[in-house]
Amino acid sequence: MKTAVVTGAAQGVGLVTASHLARLGYRVILTDIQSLESHLHHLRAAGLYVDGASGDVSSEPFVRQLAELVHRDFGAADVLVNNAGVSLIAPAEDTTAAQWQRVMNINLLGPFLLCKYLGAKMLERCSGSIVNVASVAGLAGISHRSAYNASKHALIGLTRTLAAEWGGRGIRVNAVCPGWIKTEMDVADQGSGAYTDKDIINRVPMARFARPEDVAAAIAFLADSDMQGFINGVSLPVDGGWVADASWDALRISTRAL
Ligand SMILES: NC(=O)c1ccc[n+]([C@@H]2O[C@H](COP(=O)([O-])OP(=O)(O)OC[C@H]3O[C@@H](n4cnc5c(N)ncnc54)[C@H](O)[C@@H]3O)[C@@H](O)[C@H]2O)c1
Repeated sequence: MKTAVVTGAAQGVGLVTASHLARLGYRVILTDIQSLESHLHHLRAAGLYVDGASGDVSSEPFVRQLAELVHRDFGAADVLVNNAGVSLIAPAEDTTAAQWQRVMNINLLGPFLLCKYLGAKMLERCSGSIVNVASVAGLAGISHRSAYNASKHALIGLTRTLAAEWGGRGIRVNAVCPGWIKTEMDVADQGSGAYTDKDIINRVPMARFARPEDVAAAIAFLADSDMQGFINGVSLPVDGGWVADASWDALRISTRAL
């Protein structure tokens, strides 16, 4: 049985991804800063093989401890999904150094630490697959998100660098770049009045939000070294065409059948 570690797995994309990978036959270690007990109970009751560890991905002692637990109990992780992340919507000129640092710590330092400590055993075994959850905000500039966008652009830079550094040692490193998804992150962001459902739906060629299941399926595809083992260093948009589309709204919407 292959082992997958999924961060930020207490809700949203992480929980759906953990459950999807478990249904595909992985033993999944869920990790989150929030409690995981009720989710573990629910997933085990469905006959799935899951375990959990609560902690902060930006804490080096926690990540080291998590890696020791995985290595002691399961040998090594076959798959690592760096999904935990936080949003920040604020004008650049009002963003404080503390806000900037928090976003960087969770969205960038965290994935680096997970890659470093879980990657060490993957390197020993010469096999493994890492999928980082970036964003369309890692591929284009979206205003009022300087820290968030910089963290996701940098996460794509980390993905490409590790793909180059570790590809020849049996480890593939890729990223998914979702568009807007209806999760608690979106509810909180919209709660600040930053945008509406209509803003997103009008801008996306496929006229809808991404679903956590869309993202989970893309992660599972990139993670699976048996199905395909030669994709390395890509940042795959899961965005209904958002990044590809430079049309103006009237042009996009006038031909819409959805
Ligand atoms: N929701 C969107 O529109 C959207 C779009 C593109 C990319 N993303 C990315 O997808 C990923 C998942 O987002 P989501 O929408 O499911 O968000 P979410 O807020 O619903 O879930 C994020 C999870 O990460 C956990 N987390 C936060 N800080 C943590 C820390 N320090 N250590 C461990 N866990 C921590 C939270 O507790 C939560 O369970 C994030 O990386 C996000 O940036 C989201």
